[in-house]
Amino acid sequence: KIAALTSGAIGKDGYQHFMEKELHEHPLVIGQTLQRMIDPATRQVVLPELPCNLAEVPRAVMTACGSAFYAAMVGRFWLESVARLPVDIDIASELRYRDPPLTKGSLGLLISQSGETADTLAALRTLRQNSAHILSVLNVEHSTMARESDAVLGTAAGPEISVASTKAFTAQLTVLACLTIAVARSRGMLDAAGEEELVTALLDLPSRAADALAQADAIRSMARIIADASNVLYLGRGSMFPVAMEGALKLKEISYIHAEAYAAGEMKHGPISLIDNTVPIVASAPFTPLFDKTLSNLQEAKARGGRLLVFTDTKGAERVSAIAEQMVVLPHVHDFTAPVVQTIPVQMLAYEVAVLRGTDVDQPRNLAKSVTVE
Ligand code: G6P
Repeated sequence: KIAALTSGAIGKDGYQHFMEKELHEHPLVIGQTLQRMIDPATRQVVLPELPCNLAEVPRAVMTACGSAFYAAMVGRFWLESVARLPVDIDIASELRYRDPPLTKGSLGLLISQSGETADTLAALRTLRQNSAHILSVLNVEHSTMARESDAVLGTAAGPEISVASTKAFTAQLTVLACLTIAVARSRGMLDAAGEEELVTALLDLPSRAADALAQADAIRSMARIIADASNVLYLGRGSMFPVAMEGALKLKEISYIHAEAYAAGEMKHGPISLIDNTVPIVASAPFTPLFDKTLSNLQEAKARGGRLLVFTDTKGAERVSAIAEQMVVLPHVHDFTAPVVQTIPVQMLAYEVAVLRGTDVDQPRNLAKSVTVE
């Protein structure tokens, strides 16, 4: 399988679409990416040489486009909560023109599958002009961004053919999780036992990703409800908010159904007025410290006639089943790795809806795999 990912002879291997094939590669690419970053003997994160001393970086600026931006949002959540590193974040097309004042010695952290996205490349150059150290998380390691970076952390996702990104996204999360551990250790925020706990959770991910893929039937059943909708609301809190955004983007991209993601706690400031039984609500609600808060937001939606389709985990399932019309139960994992596991089913849901609607899944209209013009 690893040979197939790197040989350049790319076929669908019996899958109906590249996107379906690439979804099934989640366990493999997460495992390969971890292999590059975790020393099996010491079970410690080992990064290549970086352009700066992580202990001395005053703050990071993260930027990207599309799905990669949502990976950056999860990365910010981790870097701030685990490594206590202040992080600014902006979509690349905004950052490049915003001319923000940068703290001296900042770390510019760019995320891109292709390494060729015009706005992300321009943002990289803006950050460089402002004397930031440039570290890029890239899947294509011989790309323009790779050449212009001080250092690259590679995602071992292999070639991604489907325009809608899937496996590259979870590989980006995997790299950002490892980077978080390294930053936290160097800043004295993580002792050996803490690192061991997080590394154990990461090493468990390929199996848990396979468990998520095994939920295909339950996800197909949810897809039948979404396929008839014109509008869908995605909700999540904390590290699940970017997961909701990734789910909504994927649905828009390949099924052409309007979808909007909201931080669940913000719903009462607007989208709650949209809720009726024609707008399905897709929620990512594993049993993390924000589970109760998310559940109470979902109860508010249900009280207004909302149809709840909920991704939860084994620890949250009983309480979710009391309010959800349908649910998908993922394995309960460490809070740290929950966004990786919860991403896989929202991507699968978009895929199943697109198949039901008969769209061109791998080549959706008006979209390009790599946007090299502004
Ligand atoms: C396009 C693709 C998206 C991707 C985005 C950023 O819009 O359709 O799937 O997330 O570009 O691409 P990058 O190569 O920079 O990750």
